Amino acid sequence: MQVPFFRYPHVYDEHHVDIEQALLRTAASGSYIMQQELREFEERLAEYCGVRHAVGVGNATDGLELNLRVAGVGYGDEVLLPSHTFVATAAAVIAVGAKPVFAEIGQDHLIDPDDIEHRITERTTAIMPAQLNGRTADMERITAIAERHGLKIVEDSAQGLGSRFCGRMAGTFGVAGVFSFYPAKILGALGDGGAVVTDDEEVAQTLRQLRDHGRDETGEVVRWGRNSRLDNLQAAVLLVKLARIGEAITTRRRLAARYHQALKGIAELVLPPPPDESASAVHYDVFQNYEVEADERDGLRHHLRDRGVATLLQWSGKGVHQFSALGFTQSLPTTEAIMNRSMMLPMNTSLIDDEIDYICEEIAAFYGNL
Ligand SMILES: Cc1ncc(COP(=O)(O)O)c(C=O)c1O
Repeated sequence: MQVPFFRYPHVYDEHHVDIEQALLRTAASGSYIMQQELREFEERLAEYCGVRHAVGVGNATDGLELNLRVAGVGYGDEVLLPSHTFVATAAAVIAVGAKPVFAEIGQDHLIDPDDIEHRITERTTAIMPAQLNGRTADMERITAIAERHGLKIVEDSAQGLGSRFCGRMAGTFGVAGVFSFYPAKILGALGDGGAVVTDDEEVAQTLRQLRDHGRDETGEVVRWGRNSRLDNLQAAVLLVKLARIGEAITTRRRLAARYHQALKGIAELVLPPPPDESASAVHYDVFQNYEVEADERDGLRHHLRDRGVATLLQWSGKGVHQFSALGFTQSLPTTEAIMNRSMMLPMNTSLIDDEIDYICEEIAAFYGNL
């Protein structure tokens, strides 16, 4: 059996009839930039997240930078973030002239609230949790720390759309939250795309101006901005997919439960917590990724590769602070130890049960558990 890590054509194939119609309709209408589809998508996304505003942007990396600018983060500031994140989180901090300072991650692979406070200095102005793998961090503790020290929260929820902490959606905890619509994401576009969500009218208005050359709704330039608009064709596709996001999340949670059931007895693995279906669940996870820790990780990856199963090391297996070209000097032993053992198994809505079962059987065979 061949199981690729991700099937890119599936991003289109899954709902191709509706997507094709949406694309043709939008293309023929001549509505390409900041038109009805974008406005409608923004409304639906805000509704889905339970906030008042969503602002479509070119990609999540831009969204993070604009979010930091709106939060007032700039030259000389320090921003606390995890190192187990995409380089984009730190790049956004650099782009506004601030300094990324990394905190360790915990056993859930997200920023560790216990490791934040002692890294706060008089220059720290914001905390940037990354809601990685489709799980929202312990935002109660992170919010309490931020409030105690007068810090802003800027959420990188690029991987977190639909996940919740204590019933509240990722992306809704700080000044604003950012989502990515990169094709492999839970809500994947046919190209790049992103959005920023917020409950704050003024923040939303500023974001709308920043993404459109600093112009207000009359066309008057009221600040320096840039061009980072989510285009209408992508918004039209995303509208089709957002209407079905519930199904996509249900599928991912079902696949995660299947992995969990088959792999939980293997002592050499550390699995993400299985989906909690109780109404009072603290974490509602959406499994953007299925990242496990494994003894003899590289051997397991080779074994799976030889049997047709592709796995992936997130960020090539390095924390942001470990890319030597970026010049960081911090050492993060816990993050490095977890990342040295981590790998991602295939997790997406194209997978069928037989494929999950095959992967699990091969993992069990590698550890001699069959
Ligand atoms: C955690 C995280 N932050 C930021 C980004 C950047 O998103 P985009 O590719 O839309 O700029 C990604 C995308 O992979 C991500 O996973």
